[in-house]
Formats: sequence, C-alpha cells, structure tokens
Amino acid sequence: QTYQNILIEKKGEKQNVGLITLNRPKALNALCGPLVSEVIEALQEFDKDDSIAAIVLTGSEKAFAAGADIKEMMNNSYSHNHKHGFIENWSYITKCKKPLIAAVNGYALGGGCELAMMCDIIYAGDTAKFGQPEITIGTIPGGGGTQRIARSCGKSKAMEICLTGDQFTAQEAEKMGLVSKVFPADQTVAEAIKLAEKIGRHSPLITKLCKEAVNVAFETSLQEGLRFEKSYFWGTFATADQKEGMAAFAGKRKPNFKNE
Ligand code: HXC
Repeated sequence: QTYQNILIEKKGEKQNVGLITLNRPKALNALCGPLVSEVIEALQEFDKDDSIAAIVLTGSEKAFAAGADIKEMMNNSYSHNHKHGFIENWSYITKCKKPLIAAVNGYALGGGCELAMMCDIIYAGDTAKFGQPEITIGTIPGGGGTQRIARSCGKSKAMEICLTGDQFTAQEAEKMGLVSKVFPADQTVAEAIKLAEKIGRHSPLITKLCKEAVNVAFETSLQEGLRFEKSYFWGTFATADQKEGMAAFAGKRKPNFKNE
C-alpha cells in the first residue's frame, strides 16, 4: 500500500506499535480529503493486524495538523456539505478498537486539535500549540471540538477556546486535562511509542474492552456507564486472558496473554 500524504511504520522493540505520520509539509498537514481517507485506511489496516498492539498518530515538529484544508472547503455550499456528508467520514477514526495515541508537536489547530482529541491519549511536545480558530474564519468547529473540549475541560474553557479562537500552549492543555503529559518536543514521538509498548504488554482483547468501557463514559449517563462497565468486567471472566493474568499473579510469574 502506498500513500501520498502519510507515512506508515512499525515501531518498538517488538515492532508492535503502528506509527502513522501525517506528511503533507507544504500545507502544515492541513487535513484535505485524501489525507484523512489515508489515515482511516491505515488505521483500519493496523486495527486488523494482529502483530500491532497500539497505534501512534503524529505529524511533524512544525505541525501536527493546521486544520481542515481551508482552500479545499472554502467554496463548499451548505447543500453540498449535506449531500456528501462533508467530513462525516472522520468519525471512522474513533471506531479504531486498539489504543490510539496522538503525539502532538507544533500546531494542532481546528481539525488538527479535533483529530488529536479523537485519539485516546494525547502526549504533547513543549512547543505544541492547540486551538480552535474556526470562529476567526467564519465557521465553527465541525470535527467534535465544541463537544470534546466541553467534556474533557468543562464549559468555561470550551467556551473561551471556541469563542476566541486563541491558541493555547501544551502546558495549558495539560493543566486543563486535554493532554496527559508534556515532553521536550524531540522526545514526544518516542515517549508515545514507549506508552504504546507499555499498553501492548497487556492482553489485546482485554485492552479493547477497557478502551470501549472508558469511551462509554462520554456517551451515556453514570448509571448506564456503570452498568456497561460491570457487564464487561464480569465478561472478562469468560476469557482465557483473565485466567492467565490472575494465575500468573498467584504463581508470582509474568502472564503470557493469548488474546483470547
Ligand atoms: C489549507 C493551510 C492551512 C489550512 C496552513 N496552510 N494551514 N492550507 N488549510 N488549514 C498552508 C498555508 O496556506 C501555506 O501555504 C502553508 O500552509 C504554510 O502556512 P503559513 O500560514 O505560511 O505558515 P505560518 O506563517 O507559519 O503560520 C502557521 C499557522 C497558519 C498559524 C498554522 O498557517 C494558520 O493560521 N493556518 C490556518 C489555521 C486554521 O485556521 N485552522 C482551522 C481551519 S478550519 P502556501 O501555499 O501559502 O505556502 C477547520 C475546520 C475543522 O479546521 C472542522 C472540520 C474538521
């Protein structure tokens, strides 16, 4: 498979980390239609590949992504957007069952910030700049910005970010809970790969169930979420990997998970 706008590699000591690098430097990785389609295809390939435990998505040191491609969409009409479901396919990114980690350096603006927020965990370099500048160009966030910032950082931050369009730093993003850790920029990707490797030591099956359970927290009421969690928790006891994990603990040895 050859891609025009992204690079694909396998990383980590066990080559079990899928790395997707956005690679459209001339436009600061602006998320044109073909680029997003390639990201979705690469994610689906890694999701199917049993040798891959987790996936890291990154850009360049200058830009994770500077947003949706403004020049591509500027002349779209409302009816065109509606008829063709403009950017609706982005939601496939959130359908990935394996852990997906964003390693953000440089600009993560508009759709770039939204793409990072579609990932499960965000690691940022200390020079990263986040923001939802859509309001400054006469539109609003359309890839989940208004909803995901509100859910992860609360109303006041979400309103401030979306209504001003101001950029904010990696350190601010960490303080508000949008980003889980900040690293020197040249170490962000390596740290994200290390995190993917650490997650990759667990049962792949149980990891997917756990990811799905956490995601339910953003979809439903607390009571429903707790019910979902309980049924998956109980369900893990029907897996070989739960038996192996607990037997390994009791036997003071390392578990050998089978993804079953
Ligand atoms: C298309 C873009 C782009 C974008 C940058 N470029 N961002 N092209 N869409 N979002 C292009 C520029 O046109 C330029 O091309 C080249 O990349 C380099 O950008 P410069 O502006 O010259 O670089 P710099 O001066 O360093 O400024 C960096 C920047 C600025 C601050 C990130 O590029 C910028 O403000 N970009 C737009 C950010 C934005 O508004 N994003 C939100 C988009 S709306 P040329 O050919 O001139 O060299 C959005 C909607 C999301 O994302 C909803 C759906 C998901």
